[in-house]
Formats: sequence, structure tokens, C-alpha cells
Amino acid sequence: MSEIAKIELEGKFYEFPVITGTEDEKAIDISSLRSATGYITLDRGFKNTGSCMSAITFLDGEKGILRYRGYPIEQLAEEASFLEVTYLILKGELPTREQLANFEATIDKHTLVHEDMKRFFEAYPAQAHPMGILASMICSMSTFYPESQDPNRSKEMFDLSINRLLAKLPTLAAMVYKNAMRHPFMYPKNDLGYVENFMYMMYGMPTEEYTPSPVIAKALNKLLILHADHEQNCSASTVRIVGSSQANLYAAISAGISALWGPLHGGANQAVIEMLEMIQNDGGDLDKWIAKAKDKDDPFRLMGFGHRVYKNFDPRATIIKKACDDILDELGVQDPTLAIAKKLEEVALNDEYFKSRGLYPNVDFYSGIIYRAIGIPTEMFTVMFALGRLPGWIAQWQEMLDNNDPIGRPRQVYTGAVRRNYVPMDER
Ligand code: SDX
Repeated sequence: MSEIAKIELEGKFYEFPVITGTEDEKAIDISSLRSATGYITLDRGFKNTGSCMSAITFLDGEKGILRYRGYPIEQLAEEASFLEVTYLILKGELPTREQLANFEATIDKHTLVHEDMKRFFEAYPAQAHPMGILASMICSMSTFYPESQDPNRSKEMFDLSINRLLAKLPTLAAMVYKNAMRHPFMYPKNDLGYVENFMYMMYGMPTEEYTPSPVIAKALNKLLILHADHEQNCSASTVRIVGSSQANLYAAISAGISALWGPLHGGANQAVIEMLEMIQNDGGDLDKWIAKAKDKDDPFRLMGFGHRVYKNFDPRATIIKKACDDILDELGVQDPTLAIAKKLEEVALNDEYFKSRGLYPNVDFYSGIIYRAIGIPTEMFTVMFALGRLPGWIAQWQEMLDNNDPIGRPRQVYTGAVRRNYVPMDER
């Protein structure tokens, strides 16, 4: 017998169905609440509100569990390639060797961007933030491929838009970096793997041979997998709600990139390094900065700490922290901010303020240290996050359409002025 939830309002009882997910998570389906009772719910930041049913990613914040399509992140990060995980997230199953080879060949066909897109870079100021450029570039793709704007286009055309996006984001991300360095753009080399090709376009120069370091490629592959999806986070929810109006995929993903940019979300990886450098330049007095983070009157927060869902530990942070030690050892890199990060973590995790609020290092706390060790500039860190999150955003968008989810349009509780008449100008 299916469970029901009973609510009493003004002496009347109402019943609503309870939905149980495959991991025994429970939800009260309130889709008939307003028509039955005239009431709505209020939940600022949607901390207790489910927006959809999804089969892509499962996470358990209390137990520190994260799985893509049922596969534990720890196994995928260790064993799989990023395009293999991209295939899994998009299609729901791990690819056979042949399926992966065909997928890789399809992506390779679309790695070049339209030559006219190079002209955008002439207009941006030299210090333009890469995320501002990337969000614009991705939305502009819809103008170069106008057929992508047709919400009723065929499945083949849907898949073409998806494959163009997966193939061109690394090329555009590398162009953003080259533009910032005032270096010549590098064209993709499709005989390289997805990650290695990105490295070639980022670090290669037309004047010399470039061979991607397998150590760095392995670290990047792991980081991209760890960022590939995270259920209904801020940017994925943004992609869903923009896509729910039948705006095209490129516009929806561009909106996701913009949401990710915020320092409370994906922009935290840049903010963490800037925070660690600030603490280092300030003399490394950790107690001072921990006190500031705890002070309600001080806007300073411990960037890279805390999470809406993980109130124990972020499994990705555990993997990245270990990868930090490995990659810095393998590259022979000494990064003083790593020592500060580890000390900061140790002090915070023994402090009642952080423990009582379930504030632990999240995915962004250590990732920037790896990006820096492999030569990625700080302002490109969130671009790297977007590169990893792209398959998740696309899969969330696709699932929203496949499930015929309605256009997203929340209600509100009005707190403004009640009805009043217009006052002529001379009587105000
Ligand atoms: C990502 O959602 C996802 O899945 C996101 C993500 C993904 O993969 O898509 O995991 C990626 O965005 C990770 C988070 C990166 N952001 C940061 O590291 C920024 C610093 N962290 C915070 O701003 C904060 O922890 C959030 C935004 C991550 C979560 O905020 P919540 O869930 O809205 O929690 P909250 O702000 O209500 O905080 C609860 C309490 C408050 O104190 P009280 O009012 O109860 O006294 O904890 C405090 C907060 O002041 N708090 C912090 C803190 N984070 C929360 N205090 C100091 N430093 C912090 N970092």
C-alpha cells in the first residue's frame, strides 16, 4: 500500500501521496496542494524541496556517497576515462569498447569552432574573466547553428547539438586561455585523446612540438570525472529551468556556466586559492581567519568549506586531497598553499563551530591546488569546473525534456503594499 502524508489546515485534513525513490528516499508529492488547500509551501533556497525525479546521480550527504548512474565515484575516478563517464552519464550505461570508440570518433568530427568565432576575442578587454567569455561563446553557438533553436527538431539534430557542445567546449576553453595569454590559438589535434587534445590546445605552441604529460593528463581526467555531475545543484537547476522554457541547449548551458561562476558555487575553486594566498600574505595566522569565518558580522567565509548536501564529508574532496599529494610529488612541485590548506582543514575540523554545522572541505577546497600545479591560471579554475560539469548539465537538460517536465515557474508569498490608488504628481 502506498504511503500518504496527512496535513491539517484550519481544521480540515488533506492527504498527499508519498513518493519513494530507488534508494528509499521519500518525498511528499504536493503538486495538488494549492488547488486542494489554497496554500503553497515556502522553502528559500529549496533546501527541502525536490524539483524533479532523476535517474542520473545519487548522493547521500550524510554518508558521503556519490554515484553516477549507480557507479561509485571512487571507482569511476580510478578506472574510467572522462569520455567513458560522459557516455555513461548521457546514455545511462557504460559503453562497450566499440560504443566508446564510435563516441570518440563522433566527438572528434566537431572539435573545430566556426572561424568567425575567433573575431569575438578582438572585442574583449585583455583582462576579461574567462567565464564571462565562455558563457557568451556558448550562447553564441546557437546563432552559428540556428537549427539548434528548433524545440521540435529530430533526435539526430538534438544529438548533433550535444556532440558539437561536448567537442567544442574544450576548444573554446583553450582559446579563452590563449587569448588571455595573448598567444596564438592552437587548432585541435584529433589523434589525441579528449583530455590530451585540450592540453595540446592549452599549452602547445605552433613553433614547437608538444607532447601532453601522461601524469597531468591522468590528473585532469580524474578531476573532470569528479566534477561531471552533482544532481540538482545551483547550475544544473539553472540549466533545467532555462531549458524548461524550450530555450535551446546552448542558451541553457550558457546560463549554467553563469550560475557556476558564483563564488558560492563553482567559483569557489578560484576563491579558495585567493583566500589561501591572502592568508599566506597576511602572515599565515590561521586562528585569525578561522575567527573571522565564524564571526557573523564579518563577511569572510572559509571558501571551499561547507556544502548544501554533504554534512559529513564530500567524497570528491577526499579523492582530490589524495590526488593533490600524488601529483605534487610526481611533478616535484612545492606549493606552500597546500600546507596552509591542510592546516586550515585540521584547525577547522577540530572547531565546534564547523563541526556543529557539518562544515567540511568540499570539492573546491583542494582542486585549485592541483590546477595550479599543472599550470592552469587561477581565473581558469572555474572554466575547468565547467569542462567537467558539461556532461551532467546536458544529461539533466535531456532528462527534463524526456520526462516532459513542465516549465519551471515557482510561486511566492507577497509581502508588498496592499491595493492603493494612483496619486497625481502634485499631491505626492
Ligand atoms: C559547490 O550543490 C552542489 O552540489 C554544489 C557543488 C557541485 O558539485 O555542483 O558541490 C559545487 O558549489 C561546492 C560549494 C562551493 N562553495 C564554497 O565553498 C563557498 C563557501 N561555502 C558556503 O558559502 C556554504 O557552505 C554553501 C553555499 C556551500 C552552502 O550554503 P548553505 O547550504 O546555504 O548553508 P548556509 O549558508 O545556510 O550555512 C549554514 C551555516 C550558517 O551559519 P548559521 O547561520 O547556522 O550560524 O553554516 C555557516 C553559515 O554561516 N557556514 C559557513 C560556511 N558555510 C556555511 N561559515 C563559515 N564558512 C563557510 N564556508
